Amino acid sequence: MGQSLNPVVTGLRSSAIRDLLAVTRRPGMLSLAGGLPAADTFPAERIGQAVHRALEADPTAVLQYGPTEGYPPLREWIAGYEAARSGRPVDAGQVVVTAGSQQALDLLVRTLAAPGDLVVVEEPAYLGALQAVRAAGAVPVPVPVDSGGLDVDLLARRLAAGLRPAAVYTVTTFHNPSGVVLAPARRRRLAELAERHGFVVIEDDPYAELRFEGDPLPPVRSWSDRVATLGSFSKTLAPGLRVGWVVLPEALAGPVVRLKQAADLQTGSLGQAVVAELVADADWWQAHLRGLRVAYAARAVALHEALTRAFGGRLAVGVPRGGMFAWGRFVDGTDTASLMPVALDRGVAFVPGSEFFVGAPDRATLRLSFATLPPDGLREAVGRLLVAHDEVSSGWSRGSREASSSARCTPSVPAS
Ligand SMILES: Cc1ncc(COP(=O)(O)O)c(C=O)c1O
Repeated sequence: MGQSLNPVVTGLRSSAIRDLLAVTRRPGMLSLAGGLPAADTFPAERIGQAVHRALEADPTAVLQYGPTEGYPPLREWIAGYEAARSGRPVDAGQVVVTAGSQQALDLLVRTLAAPGDLVVVEEPAYLGALQAVRAAGAVPVPVPVDSGGLDVDLLARRLAAGLRPAAVYTVTTFHNPSGVVLAPARRRRLAELAERHGFVVIEDDPYAELRFEGDPLPPVRSWSDRVATLGSFSKTLAPGLRVGWVVLPEALAGPVVRLKQAADLQTGSLGQAVVAELVADADWWQAHLRGLRVAYAARAVALHEALTRAFGGRLAVGVPRGGMFAWGRFVDGTDTASLMPVALDRGVAFVPGSEFFVGAPDRATLRLSFATLPPDGLREAVGRLLVAHDEVSSGWSRGSREASSSARCTPSVPAS
């Protein structure tokens, strides 16, 4: 149209997972791809009652414009929750309720990083974080994740060698995509590095409550005020509510709120009031969380057992202890980007691991979500994946598929 556009925006790639969503909506497709919560866990009836109650109790409060920072009773609840789990005081003034934690991530990156600044991300990385960093014109600097989470020792060496990031982004608990948990000693060390080198840790923790066993770990914020902790009701209530939050270091609250004013004035009041009403019913809320953990644990076991039975030693995959994802690596040389179009033809979707890399990808990796399908569906999906894998490894119809598959299956799904 003859109008020059912002090159930062025109250079943005669509999220591979968002694009895959379109494919996974095809009839008969079984999806292990998106991090879509199990629809049968949505407390639809209870949400309906909460909507009625909120409208009856104070229609003006939930239908009128509200404060940018968020619905006061919900901010208070979040402050109490975050204070309890971190063992550090949180003032409700540090809490901003956002349109999902994705918005918190976007606002924070734009607050902390000017175009050209460096933001450390994990490798493999949450795609939504890569999008937020790139949309801000900042540069993602990958630091690998191992079985104990972000390699904080390596980060320390890079910092000692002169790396000066504006922020370090990490998914601390049941990482997306790798499923790992940042070890307690690394949490503490990361907080110390933030203090010493003067960066802010963006601690993204939407899966903290989806722990199948053992005690919750203290967040990184337990050891430093240079941490912004992100949370979300997407994985525990329903993502369509679009209610998440951030607990900010005090100095960041003003700038983040002003940026949110420019973005959307406020998060929807009715959704916030509904969430506030649900979490205030502590017995119901805790029972709901217990139900989620039981449901997801059963799915995680079903997926892991099916994968082990189907692929044996050809696929290295850990047992998920929480969250929504299993991360696998084929040890037989399978390239998962080549496997995907064949898998889609066989009616099963997953995300090739290469999508999550900033640097040279490990092409043998893949992310499998156990959240969306019930156990029977997961077993059927793994059966289809095995058929696709065997076709690819025997070289069956490789050439003939390429044209049709590339047109239909080019991945680009929402960031989740
Ligand atoms: C690590 C991580 N952060 C943030 C989000 C965004 O969640 P929401 O904006 O729905 O709270 C997701 C969603 O999948 C995620 O996996």
